[in-house]
Amino acid sequence: MIETERLLLRPFIEKDAADVFEYLREPAVNCFASMKLDSLAEAKEEMKKRAGETEYYFAIVLKETGKVIGEIEAYPERGEPHDTSSPLDTFSPCWMLNEAYQGKGYAYEAAHAFFDYLFHDKGARRIYAYTEDYNLPSQHLCKRLGMRREGLFMEFISFVNNPDGSPRYENTVQYAILKKEWL
Ligand SMILES: CC(C)(COP(=O)(O)OP(=O)(O)OC[C@H]1O[C@@H](n2cnc3c(N)ncnc32)[C@H](O)[C@@H]1OP(=O)(O)O)[C@@H](O)C(=O)NCCC(=O)NCCS
Repeated sequence: MIETERLLLRPFIEKDAADVFEYLREPAVNCFASMKLDSLAEAKEEMKKRAGETEYYFAIVLKETGKVIGEIEAYPERGEPHDTSSPLDTFSPCWMLNEAYQGKGYAYEAAHAFFDYLFHDKGARRIYAYTEDYNLPSQHLCKRLGMRREGLFMEFISFVNNPDGSPRYENTVQYAILKKEWL
């Protein structure tokens, strides 16, 4: 459990289903399209799957009310994915807030605490984030966290199809920060 002034970051539990369904019934961005939940029952099943995730996948909970207002996660990766001897010291976070709770600094508060946790407790050396070129709130958050813009990958990945069935490719911006920069 990670505690900040207004938030708790903690593993998901089954009774979070209704709160999670609130923001995942219509994922806000294409990169989360595959996470869409179609019913509360599906949300309950999803919470069961997440229940064993205790280190890298957290609910963002408002301390005052106990409501789950979003989520943040990042798993250890190799800096050089093809070199299996390289350490798992690289992380790429995903963050998402219920729309009703955006614009209040909660994402920054959660991500800042999560980055501290990854750098200090989980051996992170480098944290990078991918975000679509049109996702300005997410890029704004990266900048507020002190991340550097490292590149723009044109037509990098597709999450959804065009009306004609062809893949709709997204232009992806990469931001990153090293532990020594964070410190
Ligand atoms: C990306 C996302 C998490 C950012 O959330 P957010 O609420 O905009 O981000 P922050 O927590 O940094 O809040 C920013 C705003 O809150 C304001 N704010 C209000 N009260 C505040 C407080 N007490 N403390 C700090 N900031 C506060 C800030 O000034 C800032 O507004 P500004 O940009 O006009 O200056 C959110 O837009 C989201 O969930 N989007 C959909 C999912 C998504 O795109 N995920 C990323 C995929 S790559």
